[in-house]
Amino acid sequence: MRIDVITIFPEYLAPLELSLIGRARRDGLLDLHVHDLREWTHDRHRTVDDAPLGGGAGMVMKPEPWAEAFAAVRRAGQQDLGEGVEPLIVFPNPAGQPFTQSTAQEWSQCEWLVLACGRYEGIDERVYEHLADIGAEVALASLGDYVLNGGEVAVLAITEAVVRLVPGVVGNAESLVEESHSEGLLEYPLYTRPARWEDPAGVVREAPQILLSGDHGRIAAWRREQSVERTRRRRPDLLGDEAR
Ligand code: ADE
Repeated sequence: MRIDVITIFPEYLAPLELSLIGRARRDGLLDLHVHDLREWTHDRHRTVDDAPLGGGAGMVMKPEPWAEAFAAVRRAGQQDLGEGVEPLIVFPNPAGQPFTQSTAQEWSQCEWLVLACGRYEGIDERVYEHLADIGAEVALASLGDYVLNGGEVAVLAITEAVVRLVPGVVGNAESLVEESHSEGLLEYPLYTRPARWEDPAGVVREAPQILLSGDHGRIAAWRREQSVERTRRRRPDLLGDEAR
């Protein structure tokens, strides 16, 4: 998978060198390019923003650098992947569609993502109109109903959620099947050794006996019940009306 990130803070994306994502890059499973939007400015101050037309607070990102950036990144990507390949362009945006595990599943099958980090109050609307006009595939994705200072933190989250689902990135693929949200439920409670543990207050805490039974069918049924119960308690919105 190829991912291009366009941002005015390339250093913000440094964590993508680390851990699982870093290893995926070194293993050739992820080809990640981080671009500074200011590369596509032409004035001495490398200006990317200006005051909102019509007045109001804050600043708006200018359209010209974005249009040039998309064209250049598209050319570079197509040199690598082939002329016919087009990216999905994702704008993290609190006004976008909710980004969920199923979005991550879907995007993990993409050959090429371009992640465009807006800052300030947002990007000039004509950038979106231009992309629609040239037939680009565009998505606006929200991490949740709160406002971040820009798209960079959202891009870190989206990249991690997507890339870990690319085949080969997580060594034990089974661990992806039983985690929260993989089946629309929260994950069941987990225990490890010691099965009997005395906590710092002197309370002896035993792991559920069933997990020591070796009966995989009963363990699976118990875990399922726990998942449903936990989901009902913490996230009833995830359950269908009848299950609630
Ligand atoms: N940019 C600012 N806030 C955001 C959010 N909640 N989700 C995605 N991108 C954002």
